[in-house]
Amino acid sequence: MGKVYVFDHPLIQHKLTFIRDKSTGTKDFRELVDEVAALMAFEITRDIPLQEVEVETPVSTAKCQTIAGKKLGVVPILRAGLGMMDGIVDLIPAAKVGHVGLYRDPDTLEAIEYYVKLPKDSHEREFIVTDPMLATGGSAVVAIESIKKRGAKNIKLMCLVAAPEGVEVVQEAHPDVDIFLAAMDEGLNEKSYIVPGLGDAGDRLYGTK
Ligand code: URA
Repeated sequence: MGKVYVFDHPLIQHKLTFIRDKSTGTKDFRELVDEVAALMAFEITRDIPLQEVEVETPVSTAKCQTIAGKKLGVVPILRAGLGMMDGIVDLIPAAKVGHVGLYRDPDTLEAIEYYVKLPKDSHEREFIVTDPMLATGGSAVVAIESIKKRGAKNIKLMCLVAAPEGVEVVQEAHPDVDIFLAAMDEGLNEKSYIVPGLGDAGDRLYGTK
């Protein structure tokens, strides 16, 4: 069973408060989502292996550490997942970016993939799949399936806010995937919005409401 980590770092919690606040406008919302994504990526990458290297400082030689060539990839689920991408890539510029686009079938309400593009060497990469909201879990399950089908083996799911229902659905479908959150909320309302949540993350990111 995949583990669930909720990051209680004060900076993450502080920024999440303003993200939730309905009076926060599009510009600030977008900046805050990027900042929280970067802080979460900082925590998620805590265990990546290092290798020793030697550099010449202006004074002498120093034995130092660099990241041991671990290949990372970020896969935003379109569209709201894009809002978390820049924050991660600013921190990890070598990360390659894939994309997964899904739409909801109006009759079955199932998430259907319409676009997937991943780095060619996806079987060698560790992927962070991003979506600010883990609500019913339907999109995350299909997105993770899509990238597994294309060779990805090592996948983490990073969301700002989750409903327990969605977490359970992802854990059932993908027991190998750990889930990283800034908050676990109460649940879903009748429209499948997370309560208390932060509203429609895509609309708030792109000012489309
Ligand atoms: N997607 C959103 O953007 N918000 C929710 O609360 C649930 C799904």
